[in-house]
Amino acid sequence: PPSILPKVANALTEEIESLLPALLPSQACFQTRENVRERVEALLPSRGPTTFPDGTRLRVFGSSANNFGNDAADLDMCVTFPDSSPLPAGSSGEMIEALASLLEANGMEDVVARPTARIPIVLFREPGTGLDCDISVENPLALRNTQLLHEYSRVDPRVRALAYIVKHWARARKINNASGGTLSSYAYILMVLHFLQTAAAAVPSTPDTPCYAPLVPNLQLLPPDWKGNEMDRREQMQGQRQLPRQLVTHPLEGMDVDTYFYTEPPSEEQGQPNGQRSLLREYAARNKASVGELLVAFFWYYSWEFDYRDLVLSVRLGGAMKKERKAEEDGWAVNSRLAIEDPFETWYNVTHFLKEGKHRHIRQEFARAYALCVEEAMGEGATEAGAEG
Ligand code: GTP
Ligand code: MG
Repeated sequence: PPSILPKVANALTEEIESLLPALLPSQACFQTRENVRERVEALLPSRGPTTFPDGTRLRVFGSSANNFGNDAADLDMCVTFPDSSPLPAGSSGEMIEALASLLEANGMEDVVARPTARIPIVLFREPGTGLDCDISVENPLALRNTQLLHEYSRVDPRVRALAYIVKHWARARKINNASGGTLSSYAYILMVLHFLQTAAAAVPSTPDTPCYAPLVPNLQLLPPDWKGNEMDRREQMQGQRQLPRQLVTHPLEGMDVDTYFYTEPPSEEQGQPNGQRSLLREYAARNKASVGELLVAFFWYYSWEFDYRDLVLSVRLGGAMKKERKAEEDGWAVNSRLAIEDPFETWYNVTHFLKEGKHRHIRQEFARAYALCVEEAMGEGATEAGAEG
């Protein structure tokens, strides 16, 4: 980014720090959600139609479990069946219809079943808390991508800070609504992680920080016995062949999907008194950028730098790949719109529904945000920064 940016970044960092507490979830947030989960889970077996065998569980995914949620977010849940028992008869669509009747009979409000969606789902509101909830059936990849995002959130406090601010900005600008044709929260978090894996290495762009230091590594390419050393790209690619596999069967496509990623035991830096030192925290610490600097650079990167026309954004690769390759391998349409590969369902474009008009609108929002930072830097912000030297 141009060198005027550090002038505004300090003020932004301060503002972000004062705004963050209001964006983070309250103490009660998780307990409230856990109570709702338990209450709804208790409805599942025995009492309803015999669709759900004993041992059927309800599990939380999405922002209530990925460390990027807040009190206003919906509660995403999915039904999982016990390993030992055969899958219950009937399609997930039929199970969703059975679930909808069960929920309605037990006092849940505004129950809407979508049994024919790509991922069949039932939506409802829990009357006690007013929480908007949804339930899908056997969605193991969503549980895994929730855990992957959670693991990235633990790398460094700046990951969460940037992600919360970006979600806040996207909501304020009304470009965070997948059913309205803009982008899901999931897509924004993947954009944040891609930026932190790549372009964040050049932030801050001052001569005294010339080292190449991304803020987060590629967790899908780190071996379980990672020693915290910097691995170059070739080493990482070679390492990938020896990585353990963690296979999950895709509920729709039927094939096994590798969902391995590196996880670290809780560390002292992450608030665990008896934990080890965090190798991930040490990795991130080599990047000295403030959250304000990262936010300005994030806007700059998606305004001017990311090559939407030729590249698919890939957190799995810690970078990007050519659109032509994705078209050959997975039949993706070649166009100039934002394309984001799912970290596990690699054939799936997280932004496949994005139309040209919305794509352009979102890019304009990035450019507007960046332009505001520049204006601020050249106006009052520059004067203040000048006075501070
Ligand atoms: P908020 O509810 O807006 O706070 O965010 P969220 O993190 O819950 O995101 P969202 O509602 O967009 O999605 C919920 C979860 O569904 C995500 O965390 C993912 O696990 C999963 N998900 C959402 N969109 C996709 C997608 O396009 N592909 C895949 N594989 N999973 C998705
Ligand atoms: Mg959600």
